[in-house]
Amino acid sequence: MRIVSGIQPTGQIHLGNYLGAIRRWVRMQADLGPEDRAFFFIADLHAITLPQPPGALRAATREIAAALIAAGLDPGRVLLFNQAQVPEHAELAWVLMCIARVGWLNRMTQFKEKSGRDREGASVGLYTYPVLQAADVLAYKATHVPVGEDQKQHLELARDIAARFNAEMGCDIFPLPEPTIGPEAPRVRSLRDGAAKMSKSDPSDQSRINLLDPADAIAAKIRRAKTDPLPLPETAAGLKGRPEAENLVGLLAALTGESADSICARFAGRGFAALKPVLAEAIIAELAPVALRFRELLATPEAIDAVLVEGAARARATAAATLAEVHAAIGFLKP
Ligand code: TYM
Repeated sequence: MRIVSGIQPTGQIHLGNYLGAIRRWVRMQADLGPEDRAFFFIADLHAITLPQPPGALRAATREIAAALIAAGLDPGRVLLFNQAQVPEHAELAWVLMCIARVGWLNRMTQFKEKSGRDREGASVGLYTYPVLQAADVLAYKATHVPVGEDQKQHLELARDIAARFNAEMGCDIFPLPEPTIGPEAPRVRSLRDGAAKMSKSDPSDQSRINLLDPADAIAAKIRRAKTDPLPLPETAAGLKGRPEAENLVGLLAALTGESADSICARFAGRGFAALKPVLAEAIIAELAPVALRFRELLATPEAIDAVLVEGAARARATAAATLAEVHAAIGFLKP
């Protein structure tokens, strides 16, 4: 297994990132066999597809690294780095931009969402973003890419790009990367709107639980979380069509390991006022130790930077070897 995944250093780390990415990476690390390798990176090249104040970008990059280590990622066992320190990502992205088709990118829903009504004013980087993401995984010949549901379309594109490159060049350099979207990583929704995902870019802080929220803020956000007036159903099947209710039950299930069916059976017939304090407790119990360790790590930013430098050097060795194969397959002269 070659596991590759990334997270953008924009805004605050929230419960969606934690359950959708960070906690899963830590669990995958525990299951690595002796031949397996895992590459986890902070996607700073992706972040600048939208304007980022330099100071905020620098701080957020360190914060994500600290959060990953605080949650249990061990830079001795996995490679942890920031993308910009591995120039092969951008270099491979150029090659892949000559493989991907404009029609393929035109189908990407994220560009439509992020560019909004000002499509002409969006950066070209925002448009070609999914090709960089393909380069991220293909540079390491990823076989497994743990991501949330929202990244599935990008991974499908990466597979199309890999297959086309292999076919056009008559080689089999790239394995087709498999998105792994586990049931233990639910799509975490906004606490204010069941139709939207929990997101760093939501203007309402009430819509998300941030890693660093104090316990009373977490309890208050969950207490105010939107629900419907119906009581909890007997089984999880009864949550269909009730996105806010499904979200809260799904969160409790993801945090405690109890099945959604069993949670429903336990609270059946009662309103969400009964479930909310239990959920708030579970979130606080999970995040509090991570937040504590996170703060300790951030006290020595130079130590975090050193981890990223070391990770990048190791990642480069693998990415440069792939790029050399790619150059030879294309017909570029060797230096
Ligand atoms: P990003 O930074 O938006 O999110 C990082 C990871 O967290 C997951 N996630 C969620 N999961 C469940 N519920 C949510 N509300 C939620 N919000 C975010 C995302 O699915 C993701 O797995 N383009 C990527 C970063 C990236 C990448 C890559 C990922 C760049 N290159 C290569 C994998 C492989 C992104 O913006 O994720």
